[in-house]
Amino acid sequence: MTRRGRRLSRMGTACLLAATLAFAVGGCTRGSTSKRPPIHPNPNMDDQPKIEPFDASPWFPDGSAMRPPVPGTVARGELFADPVLHTGAAADGTWAAVIPIAVDDAVMARGEERFGIYCQPCHGAKGNGKGPSAVRGGIPAANLVGDPRLLALEPGQIYHAMDAGIGLMPAFARIPTEDRWAIVAYVEELQGR
Ligand code: HEC
Repeated sequence: MTRRGRRLSRMGTACLLAATLAFAVGGCTRGSTSKRPPIHPNPNMDDQPKIEPFDASPWFPDGSAMRPPVPGTVARGELFADPVLHTGAAADGTWAAVIPIAVDDAVMARGEERFGIYCQPCHGAKGNGKGPSAVRGGIPAANLVGDPRLLALEPGQIYHAMDAGIGLMPAFARIPTEDRWAIVAYVEELQGR
């Protein structure tokens, strides 16, 4: 081996040693825990001087970075102008006595599917209040198909239960209006109406 060759090979070995040492000391900490912040060799634009959702901000009087919409703001598709459709009751407070959307087989199937997702855990697949969380979790849910008072609920009242929640039952704001009415149609079918 020439002298140059020997020098190159020594350098190679030194590099290998240095790399092994670096991994032994710094890297390969997989699975172990550390209280120090992670090493971030290439930060890109990951950390920026900006406010994130739920951050505090001394800039606004209420101390919150997230701003409420300007009063009266209506987001697209959220103009809830029809009280019967969106609350289950007319402006004078009378409950909707009929479902304000056209109910066909597709809507009924949708209602059955959504009921299975959102209501069945408590009320049971048959609506009798014996869902898994009632049976195993001990959360009593109303018997929608056996309690005479609930059998007599107007469609608007069933809608309202989803809209506002009642007792231990949460409000289901995340179910879109049409789906809620589809669920009402399915509940009425379960009730044999
Ligand atoms: C977390 C369990 C839970 C879930 C999920 C749930 N409910 Fe309920 N529901 C209850 C309980 C508990 C009551 C009885 C509340 C009370 O009377 O205090 C109730 C009551 C009701 C009532 C009767 C309201 C009244 O006027 O007395 C209706 C109607 C109803 N639920 C429909 C639904 C529908 C439709 C869904 C699905 C979108 C649903 N519930 C999901 C627990 C639940």
